[in-house]
Amino acid sequence: MIMVTGASGQLASLTLAQLAERGIRAVGGTRTPADGQRLLDFDDPATLDLAGITTLVLVSAGYAEDDLVIARHQAVLEAAVRDGVGHVIYTSLTGAGDHLAFALAHRSTEQLIKTSGLAWTILRNGLYAELFGALISWSSDGLESPFGSGRLAAVARTDLAAVTATIAQAPSAHANTTYDLVGDPISADDVATRLGVTHRAVGLTEYRSRLLSDASLLPFQPAMLTSIATSIRHGFLNTASPDLASLLDRPPTDPITVAANTAHALRPVSLR
Ligand SMILES: NC(=O)c1ccc[n+]([C@@H]2O[C@H](COP(=O)([O-])OP(=O)(O)OC[C@H]3O[C@@H](n4cnc5c(N)ncnc54)[C@H](OP(=O)(O)O)[C@@H]3O)[C@@H](O)[C@H]2O)c1
Repeated sequence: MIMVTGASGQLASLTLAQLAERGIRAVGGTRTPADGQRLLDFDDPATLDLAGITTLVLVSAGYAEDDLVIARHQAVLEAAVRDGVGHVIYTSLTGAGDHLAFALAHRSTEQLIKTSGLAWTILRNGLYAELFGALISWSSDGLESPFGSGRLAAVARTDLAAVTATIAQAPSAHANTTYDLVGDPISADDVATRLGVTHRAVGLTEYRSRLLSDASLLPFQPAMLTSIATSIRHGFLNTASPDLASLLDRPPTDPITVAANTAHALRPVSLR
């Protein structure tokens, strides 16, 4: 039996939907289980029961400081070894992302996986095209972003879910392999052109200051988001890789369309 963790999250739910479409039996593990799902909270050892699971799709549980994220992933990996899981598939971060503030937790988890004794596949996921679109903001003049003319090898979540499902259904063919799953590089100018508006680059000083005054962000998030901005702006996340196209059984989804749709959906009513 396959288990996909984080089943209420966007990537995990798309992966479970892909597996269901293909008639592959899989169960979702989540902190908020619906019918047929299992309770699984990486922060609660009492819920870490992986009995009967042969393949574990470990969707990273970020959104916290490194020590918490690494402890979460370590706990679920220890449970996987104890309960006889055969293969773990981990959703990591693209190799080009080593400069990002959240890279360390991913690389540490990769090390834990490789020394666990489990068979493994590491999916080094690029940044989502949806995320890129969401990080571009609107002003009365059009779009603004901290990305300048930098390009991001952005990837649609649905493509990552399709590849994750493909590997989960036949994991031994992908044992002890790392894939870099990124799409065609796109820029904020591409998104603006698609939407028929202008794009203005915001400096990193102004961007960080805006983030620091946003009370809705968690303490670690301004540094995390600024690291994404500077990495894209200065050309550290634009590396292409053939892995996504070779693992999909269809052409990759156009990341400009995904980013533009996301940005369009987030346009404030007052600026429409
Ligand atoms: N590549 C990118 O651009 C990008 C962007 C953002 C995040 N990420 C990373 O990729 C992951 C999946 O992305 P997404 O878009 O699906 O994010 P999402 O929709 O925000 O989902 C967050 C996920 O984290 C899981 N989670 C949080 N705390 C957990 C815990 N204590 N135990 C178990 N699971 C926990 C949630 O599981 P339940 O709520 O179901 O328990 C859920 O699956 C994220 O968690 C993050 O690590 C990647």
